[in-house]
This record gives sequence, C-alpha cells and structure tokens, in this order.
Amino acid sequence: MWDARFSKAVDSRVNDFNSSISFDWRMYKSDITGSIAHATMLGECGIIAKEESAKIIEALRQILADIESGALAIDPEAEDIHMFIEAVLTERIGETGKRLHTARSRNDQVALDIRMHLKEEIKAVQTLIASLLDAICSKAEEHVDTVMPGYTHLQRAQPVTFAHYILAYAQMFMRDYERLCDVYKRTDVMPLGSGALASTTYPIDRHMVADLLGFSTVTENSMDGVSDRDFVLELGSALSILMMHMSRFSEEIILWCSSEFKFIELDDAYSTGSSIMPQKKNPDVAELVRGKTGRVYGDLTTLLTMMKGIPLAYNKDMQEDKEAIFDALDNVKIAVEVFTAMFTTMTVRKDNMRAAASRGFINATDCADYLVKKGMAFRDAYKISGRLVAHCIAENTTLEDLPLDTYKSYSDLFGEDVYGAISLETCVAERGAYGGPAPASVRRQITLLRSFLSEAK
Ligand code: ARG
Repeated sequence: MWDARFSKAVDSRVNDFNSSISFDWRMYKSDITGSIAHATMLGECGIIAKEESAKIIEALRQILADIESGALAIDPEAEDIHMFIEAVLTERIGETGKRLHTARSRNDQVALDIRMHLKEEIKAVQTLIASLLDAICSKAEEHVDTVMPGYTHLQRAQPVTFAHYILAYAQMFMRDYERLCDVYKRTDVMPLGSGALASTTYPIDRHMVADLLGFSTVTENSMDGVSDRDFVLELGSALSILMMHMSRFSEEIILWCSSEFKFIELDDAYSTGSSIMPQKKNPDVAELVRGKTGRVYGDLTTLLTMMKGIPLAYNKDMQEDKEAIFDALDNVKIAVEVFTAMFTTMTVRKDNMRAAASRGFINATDCADYLVKKGMAFRDAYKISGRLVAHCIAENTTLEDLPLDTYKSYSDLFGEDVYGAISLETCVAERGAYGGPAPASVRRQITLLRSFLSEAK
C-alpha cells in the first residue's frame, strides 16, 4: 500500500503486530454499509461520476452478500477489515474501486464503523436486559406474599417479600437499560468527513451520509471526530455497572442455594456436579457471572488507560479499543442470557424463607413500633424491645412465643393485640409507604415495570 514512499518492505513481525483483522473483521457489515453511503454521496456531490458510484455500490453489495453466504472468506493476512474490503473491491472492479477512498481516511472510516457497530450491539444488550426484566416481573407476580428476611450486614433485619427483593434488582436493571439509551445517543453521531484529522477539500455532504446511515447528527469538529472514543468508554462503564448488579444478584443466589440458606434451588440444567463429591450441586452460572464481572471491569480499565495519554488526533493505540469492548460485549451478552435462564428456572423455597424470617427477631422493630402506637417515645420503645429480645435469646424462644405476662412485665402498654402486630404478615403489610414491601406497593412496582417494558419494546 505505501510502496511509493517506502524503500523497504515492512518486517513480517511488524505486519502481524500491526494487523487488526483478527478482531475487526466483525465490523465488515458496518464497513461496507458505511462505504456504500460514502460512495452514494461522492456520486451525488459530483466528486466521482455517477456511473462509477453505482458500480462501486453494486460491487460492495455483492461483497457483503458473498461474505454473508460464505462465498468470500475474510483474509487473515489483510491488515484490517477496511483494507480487505477495499482490496476485494479493486480486485473485482479494477480502477473504479480505487475511487472509493476519495475524501476519506481510514481514521474517519474506522470511527464510523465502530459507532455503527456499537449502535447495534447496544440495542442487542438492551433486548437481553428487557428479557431479564420480564423474567423478574413474572416471578415477582408469583411472590407478592412470599415473606423472607431482609438483611443489612447480612444479618436478619426486617421482613420483606421475595417479590420486593427481586424488584430491587429490577430497578437497577431498568437504570442499566436507560444508561444504555444515553450511551446510544452519544454513539449515534456521524464522524465520516473528518478525514485523517482536518476534514477534506472535496465538496462533501456529511449530513447526506448521516441520513443514509440513520445517524441523528454529525460530529462538529474533525479532530474530535477521529480521535475520541469516549462513547466506547461510556459503553464499557455502562456494561461494568450492569455486570456489578448481576454480580451482586449472583452472589446472593450462590448464598441462597447453599445448605445454610436453602432459599432457592437451581434447576439441574443450570448447575453442575462435582467430579469427586457426589452430593454437590454447584451454582457455576452465578459464579461465572460474578467472575466475568472482573473481566469486564478489566476491559474498561484497558480502555481508560489506553486513551489517557494520546495526543490529538488519531494514533494507532486506538486500534486497541476494539478487542476490549468486543470482549466486554461478548461476555455481558452471554452472562445476561444465561443468568436470565437460570433465574427463570430456579425454584423458590417459600417455606425456608418464611422459617428464616420467623427466627432472628426480624419483628423487633415492629414490637417497638407497637409501643409507639400506644403512646411511648420511640427511643424508650426501642430499649424495651431490645430487652425483650435479650430475654428471648436467654430463654431460647421467640417474640411470637413469649407469654403476655412476660410482655407485661416489661411494659404494661402490652396487650393481647401485640401478637397480631408482630406477625410477619402484619410486619410486611404495614410497610405500605411509597416504595415499601407491602403487597399493594409491590403491585404498583410491578405495574410500573410492565409499562416500562411495553415502552421499551
Ligand atoms: N485498524 C485501524 C484501527 O483500528 C484503522 C485505522 C488505521 N489508521 C491509520 N492511520 N493507520 O484503528
């Protein structure tokens, strides 16, 4: 390619080192579609002849069809996908093929390709998140009344329901979805026409290219257009946050299917056995989601570090953006998909959740609130409830089983109605504040999630 200026061939190791075809081949469709739009514009603006533009477009369409049908194999020896497509084009239509690269540089070409490619990938991740949200919604509908302990510091704290608990994750995943909408907005900006860095002297029409390719707008500064990758970083960070949420959820699933909790049971199709211990059923899917989170963070760190010292405008360092973001996307997509299937098929052990909620004085706050409703100040009521808990621990009993006489020995405000007030159902039902675990509040969350999903579609 650069024979004219160079007197020696490039060292073959440099060729290998420089080559990006092993990973950027994935952008073949974006590259060809982008080139078709560019060739159209060149023809429309009279920069190349209309007949030549038509010839290039037809050949590019054929190349795309041939790659997709398998008739044309991508050459691993090519430097990158852009060079490969252009070489095939020139091979097929001769001189005319060489006109495609008029008013364009690989710098703005690659900036265009990666944006087009990531726009599609963002939508694909969003579709997967929507399926996960849908699965959470269906499970929540079944468990509006399934009482379980809510934890802080992994100590039993106050009763909630399983629906309320999983809907907390639904909120996080809805924000992940929205973060991706935001990333999409900033990815949806068309950079072609920035040239190598200083645009071009040809009378191009960048807005026409943007319209042809379905971009909302065009980049405003040619140096920025070819040299920033902040939309890649934003995507990397949105994916990292999504993985962080899935990792927390996975961590709880791992705990809950242990014999110590037994809150859920994973379907056999989403668990593995041990090669030595016959009794084992391991939550590998959840563990891998947790593990892959580290890998996706690693990809983000790669991107941030790669970009931090690059002078304007394009530098070859930026070729490193693709492997990192593709790796993050591959892992996130498979993680969300398999996680959703594991979640959908798991069995919820209501009985064990309830039993755990019945021990551990999860209703001690409600016992204090009972006294407050009878007129006592909360701080005093808190102390009495605490003493009752200490009493129960010493006697190896629970608040539910404590005789009324004992209650009365701590405060004469206690009456027969204390048992109703501290029952798990009451504890949950009374927490009807906006956003609380009471069934009515949870049903409202479900309705909102359903309408979010129907708008997302
Ligand atoms: N493969 C290159 C990349 O991914 C394409 C851009 C090459 N531009 C250049 N000036 N060498 O960044």
